[in-house]
Amino acid sequence: MTAKKPLVIVTRKLPDAVETRMRELFDTRLNIDDRPMTQAQLVEAVKQAQVLVPTVTDRIDRAVLSQAGPQLKLVSNFGTGVDNIDLDTARNRGIIVTNTPGVLTEDTADMTMALLLAVPRRLAEGAAFLKNPKSQWQGWSPTWMLGHRIWGKRLGIIGMGRIGQAVARRAKAFGLQIHYHNRRRVAEDVERELEATYWDSLDQMLARMDIVSVNCPHTPATYHLLSARRLKLLRKDAIIVNTARGEVIDENALARMLEAEELGGAGLDVFEHEPAVNPRLLKAKRAVLLPHMGSATIEGRIDMGEKVIINIKTWVDGHKPPDRVLPSML
Ligand code: 8YV
Repeated sequence: MTAKKPLVIVTRKLPDAVETRMRELFDTRLNIDDRPMTQAQLVEAVKQAQVLVPTVTDRIDRAVLSQAGPQLKLVSNFGTGVDNIDLDTARNRGIIVTNTPGVLTEDTADMTMALLLAVPRRLAEGAAFLKNPKSQWQGWSPTWMLGHRIWGKRLGIIGMGRIGQAVARRAKAFGLQIHYHNRRRVAEDVERELEATYWDSLDQMLARMDIVSVNCPHTPATYHLLSARRLKLLRKDAIIVNTARGEVIDENALARMLEAEELGGAGLDVFEHEPAVNPRLLKAKRAVLLPHMGSATIEGRIDMGEKVIINIKTWVDGHKPPDRVLPSML
C-alpha cells in the first residue's frame, strides 16, 4: 500500500532540479510563473496544504496562520531568516517551522566582502563610468577615483553567528582587524583563530570602527538595532555594510546621514521595505545598493532546496525535521 503523498504548496519558482525532486516525492503545487502570492492567495494555500514552502517575499503572519486549516503541519521556509513567519502563532497552532541554515553562509559572506570592498574602492562608480558613453575616459591619473584602503582598518561585525564568522575569516585575510558584538561571546578557540575582539557594548564598538557589517538576524530584539542615535555614534568616515535584513537599520536615518555626508558610505544588499528602496538611498553618492543578492548562486539555491526537501521528507517519515526553528532560538 502506498501512503498518500502530502500536498506541498511552493510559493515561488525554485531551481528546476529542486522542483523535479519535490514533484517526485510529494504532491507538489508549484508556482511556475513566479508571481508573488497575495495575502489572500497565501490564506487559500494554508487552508489546503499540509506543507507550505514560502520565501522571504511571503508574509506568513498571524492573519494568514490563524486561517490555516488543521491539515497544515509544516512551514518549510526556503531561506535562513524566518522574520517573514509569525513563529509564536505557528507554535500555538502546532505548526512546525523549518529553515535552511548553513548552506548560504559562504555565499552571503562573499557578497558581504564584495560590498565591503566596493564602497571604499568605488567599484560601482568606476564600472559605471566606463560603460557610460558620455564619459570619455582620459586615461590613468594619479589623483582620480581615489578611494580608501581597507587593509589595517577596524571591522566591527554585529552578529557573530555562522555568517559573521565567515565574514571575519575572509576579512582577516584582507588585513582587517576583527571586532564583534554578539549576544554571547563566541568560543575562545574561534576568537583566537579570528583574532577577534569582543565588545559587550555595541555603542562603544560603533564609535571606534572604520567599517561595520550587519550579520545578525532580524528579530524583535534587533529591529532598528542601528537606530538614529546609534548611527550618530559612528565616525564620519565609517562605512556600513548590510547583507542581513534592512529592518536592523533605521533606513531613513541612514539615508539622511548619507545625504548629509555624515558617513563614509554604505553597501546595502537588503532594505527595510523590500522591494521598495528608499529614494534617498538610490540618490546617495556613497551608497552601493544590490537587490537582495547575498545568497543568489545557483549552487546555494539548490542546496537550500535540498534542505527544504530533507525537512519535509523527514517529517513525512514521522521524524523531527532537522532544521526546526523555535521562537526561543531567536
Ligand atoms: C534568501 C535570505 O534568498 O535566507 C535568507 O535569509 O536572506 C536570502 O538570501 C531568501 O531569504 C529566500 O527566502
